[in-house]
Amino acid sequence: MRRTIIYFNMLLPVFVSAQEISIIPLPAEMKTGKGRFSLSKYTVLLVRNGADDPAADFLNTYLEEYYGFKLKKVKQASSGCIELTTLQTLVPGKEGAYTLTVTPKGIAVMGQTASGTFYGMQTILQLLPAVKQSNATYSIPVVTIKDEPRFGYRGLHLDVSRHFLPVSYVKKYIDFIALHKMNYFHWHLTDDQGWRIEIKKYPKLTEVGAWRDGTIIGRYPGTGNDNIRYGGFYTQEQVREVVQYAADRFITVIPEIDMPGHSLAALTSYPQLGTAPESGYAVAQTWGINDRFNNVLNPTEYTFSFVEGVLDEVIGLFPSKYIHIGGDEASKRWWHESPSSQKIMQDNGLKDENELQSYFVKRVEKFLNSKGRTLMGWDEILEGGLAPNAIVMSWRGEKGGIAAAKEKHFVILCPEDPLYLNHSQTRLEDSITQGGYGPLENVYKYEPIPKELNEEEGKYVMGAQGNLWSEYIGTPSKAEYQLFPRLSALSEILWSPKAKRNWTDFEKRLLTQFKRYDLWKINYSRSYFELKATVLPAPAYQGISVRLETKTKNPVINQYNTVNGDSHSLGKYTGPVTIKKSGLYHAELIVSGKKLGSFDQPFYFNKATGKSIRLVTEANTKYPGDGAFTLVNGIQNTKRLIRSTEFLGFLGTDCEATIDLGKETSFTNVSVHILEQPSSWIYAPSGFSVSYSTDGKQFNTINCNDGPIKKEWVICSIDKTIKARYVKVIIRNYGTIPTGSVGAGNKAWLFVDEITID
Ligand code: ACM
Repeated sequence: MRRTIIYFNMLLPVFVSAQEISIIPLPAEMKTGKGRFSLSKYTVLLVRNGADDPAADFLNTYLEEYYGFKLKKVKQASSGCIELTTLQTLVPGKEGAYTLTVTPKGIAVMGQTASGTFYGMQTILQLLPAVKQSNATYSIPVVTIKDEPRFGYRGLHLDVSRHFLPVSYVKKYIDFIALHKMNYFHWHLTDDQGWRIEIKKYPKLTEVGAWRDGTIIGRYPGTGNDNIRYGGFYTQEQVREVVQYAADRFITVIPEIDMPGHSLAALTSYPQLGTAPESGYAVAQTWGINDRFNNVLNPTEYTFSFVEGVLDEVIGLFPSKYIHIGGDEASKRWWHESPSSQKIMQDNGLKDENELQSYFVKRVEKFLNSKGRTLMGWDEILEGGLAPNAIVMSWRGEKGGIAAAKEKHFVILCPEDPLYLNHSQTRLEDSITQGGYGPLENVYKYEPIPKELNEEEGKYVMGAQGNLWSEYIGTPSKAEYQLFPRLSALSEILWSPKAKRNWTDFEKRLLTQFKRYDLWKINYSRSYFELKATVLPAPAYQGISVRLETKTKNPVINQYNTVNGDSHSLGKYTGPVTIKKSGLYHAELIVSGKKLGSFDQPFYFNKATGKSIRLVTEANTKYPGDGAFTLVNGIQNTKRLIRSTEFLGFLGTDCEATIDLGKETSFTNVSVHILEQPSSWIYAPSGFSVSYSTDGKQFNTINCNDGPIKKEWVICSIDKTIKARYVKVIIRNYGTIPTGSVGAGNKAWLFVDEITID
């Protein structure tokens, strides 16, 4: 019997399951085999020539930091070694390609280019168990991998103007890029809130422009100012150090010097660059742009000589072929109002401010091209005509990227939704973000080649990039919280073959990736596991129903309801639960006895809550909320987050809704909960009318004694008690934004999130 079992086991090859191998980004081709290789401090590292050194050095630094040992470098092959070989034949289009072979005797990486060898080494790191072991022998499964990147541009951006991060952390950030086989670091070095790079010819840029006298507290527009002097900058020495550090990881650093807008730090340092030198420029202490403050360079000859002086030094520091000059969000108002800018337009035969912007960008491009560099800019550089050789980064959706690719310009896609990684990846809003909701799954499912492009045009898509704007990111830990795990999803859409992209498979590998994050000791978001709640009308419109979901295995979810200060258990969650009274619903996710997350939602009940509701015109697709039901779901959005999914937004149009209360009901008050934020073009309604009906056809209008808006409420209080089954509410859009206000002349937004009937 016993013999038979042994015999049987020997016959059955021990194949490694593909699931045990968990590599992100997923390799192009992979074949698992049988057997294993043991890696320990006795393993040697065969490095044939200098081209393999960066990979060897990274491997040893990684092993030493996370596993506590490193490998001896040798020049002669031997059994049980890791062998790195770079072919150095630059096969066009094969930059970064490699093969990796693990046998029980050793590991061999062969890179087409040195970067390929480096990426093959990155794959070895992911074949290691993600946990440090006490016996320090690591078993690596037999596998053969043939791999290469899908896109040549795999980027991550970092804004160090709004908040400054030290060189030590910038290097760590670059390591994160390297660990994901990405190859561009877009360093946003200048903006209204601070100039962060030493320029020897213009010392005031960092003496003055690198510092601000305070910062707003909380979410824009803020609850006050901390009045704390804040700033910092990188010396040229430090910049060189960062560029070299990145180059050792096959990462190109693209500097961004933002112009002609976003230039308040430069204008504060050298006011003569502006359209209003006497106006008293000051480095910004708040966020956002638009026409509120003048942050625009005046395109004079003085300005061009300044720009060229700055770029000369930048070019000297950054070997990158691409130099990013921003070009985003330059308000044309200041050029329109400046006689000096108008004169420049006249002298150059420019018919409007868009053409002036284009003139500016084209001149800067000419300068960069004369130095052998290529200009990169945000999609606004399309306005008024694209500079001949410019590369466009499409951030306001994909429109700019599509237009530029059709004009045969190279483009990089980084649409805000979902590639602005400063947006929240959780609905729970556990820390301040700008708003916006870009969960992991949306990043994973993003396809960098817009479907509007045909095959030929699609070739102009160099790749995509994740952007991390730092208004609300002041620490490394917050940066990591925003980046992870979305950076891992981004790396896969950029590296792996499109046909192999599979969310369910990624989810399995993600669990191992989380262990790697633990190994790296980074602060990553657990939002993937969070309790996701869906609020629905209860059956027969009798209350509100809450449905919970979690990705966690074997969850226990305890539920409580607090009504008038009394908390009681609603038991364990087994399926959608119905709520019928105002109160705080609280659910806790327990896994292996530990609390892993919670969901809290106050519900405010009134006679309309959970009832049937119909909208005459749907909300704008940008702010669709959760459809018409949003207005009677018992949830009042008190966070004032304009991009919350809980608001319905109407651009220039009214919100007209009819609620069916189910039966004849008496009431004396109808109110609407709105958001008012003129700085973001969101205006309180200009009016509000209520009518009622018993049959849903014939409506009688009510005379409202509507007073002023109280906080976020527009109220219709009625003199007498009305009895009706149907209530129709028309909330009138403010209309056109008035002169002198932000966005004057444009259609105003109306934001509504609840209608109450009492
Ligand atoms: C940008 O977000 N202004 C490029």
